Amino acid sequence: MSISIIGKSIGESATLKLNEIAALLRQKGEPIIHLGGGEPKTRVPIDAITSLTGLLNTGEVRYTPVDGILELKQAIIRYTEEFYHRKVEPENVIVSGGVKQAIMVALQAILDPQDEVIFPSPYWVSYPDMIKLCGAIPVPVVPEDGTFYPRFQDIEQNVTTYTKAIILNSPNNPTGALYSEKFISEIVQFCEKEGLYLILDDIYHRLVFDGKKAVVCYEHATDLSENSKIIVVNGVSKQYAMTGFRIGWAVANKKLIKVMSNIQGHQTAGPSVLLQKAALGALNGVQSGVESLRLTLENNRRVLMDQLNAFDGIKATKPDGTFYVFADFSVYDKDSVRLSKLLLDKVRVLTMPGKEFGLDGYLRLSTCGSIKDIIEGIERIKWALDPNSPNELYIGERKLVRDWL
Ligand SMILES: Cc1ncc(COP(=O)(O)O)c(C=O)c1O
Repeated sequence: MSISIIGKSIGESATLKLNEIAALLRQKGEPIIHLGGGEPKTRVPIDAITSLTGLLNTGEVRYTPVDGILELKQAIIRYTEEFYHRKVEPENVIVSGGVKQAIMVALQAILDPQDEVIFPSPYWVSYPDMIKLCGAIPVPVVPEDGTFYPRFQDIEQNVTTYTKAIILNSPNNPTGALYSEKFISEIVQFCEKEGLYLILDDIYHRLVFDGKKAVVCYEHATDLSENSKIIVVNGVSKQYAMTGFRIGWAVANKKLIKVMSNIQGHQTAGPSVLLQKAALGALNGVQSGVESLRLTLENNRRVLMDQLNAFDGIKATKPDGTFYVFADFSVYDKDSVRLSKLLLDKVRVLTMPGKEFGLDGYLRLSTCGSIKDIIEGIERIKWALDPNSPNELYIGERKLVRDWL
């Protein structure tokens, strides 16, 4: 069978695959604890459901403009004013099928084969493959000081004549690191000076802890005209627990949005009008759910950090936001894929291998589940890995005997 060079270079999304395996095991009645997930367990906002069902009940569900319905664009414009203090116009906005598609069409609109795109490592799993899909080259940058907080010089050192764009995701998946005002400001100014595109993946920007605030990129830009190469992407998946609705958006200069729309028009056309209506309901509706999710996540992070701090040999940096703690398990196994598999096979705890995010020896643990799940999940992991723990463990009625250490 003949497969394209690009097709062959693209791997399966490791996180989606592991989620599917865990879901299948759970369907079979296995006592899975999901510490791998990137989706909140809270219910979708009622305003989203009402808005969607209102349209559904009319029985008139049709195509929409490729770049989204005007009402939703207007809600995104209000959102941009509220959180970014920036007034944009409908032509500066495209609505896509999730933040994933918004990033993908942005990359397709700006990249030529062999162009390079820089992003800090660890990184969200999809960036390298999305860049490769454009025939371009991903350039993950590991902070030289060994932290999860890149410095400007880390990025600058990797810029070449092929560099076309930089992607920043703050707070970050998988580390939870919130990048400093100084760093973002330096990158914004550098991109302006060098004429580079800057994609800010702000999908977690309202899920930040300890009274900190995500940095607003535009406040550090000198050029906010239609020449600006800043692309901000955001969506409803995380903040409104609407992962299954697949609505995201990008805000950028009008010319670029037009090119992105042309591309999207041939891929999927406009996202489903029902889902756009739901996103509209969420954005215009009662907002207290976002804050209550943020508070829950902050509390769950405390519980997970306490558990990990009491776990011999594990090192974990306290995250500033998101759903994740990225913990160093290398004392137990430097191969995170093997370790994650062992934990799922033996004690039915799903974790995400750090290798998929660019750093082996680490596991990404999620705070999306209940406190009970977090505590029991870490207890099971401890039992699986610590040779000093008793030889047997009960999960419900089931007796496990540790025969792998
Ligand atoms: C950093 C980051 N960007 C983008 C996405 C994709 O978001 P969506 O579900 O809206 O496509 C995710 C989802 O996990 C993410 O963590």
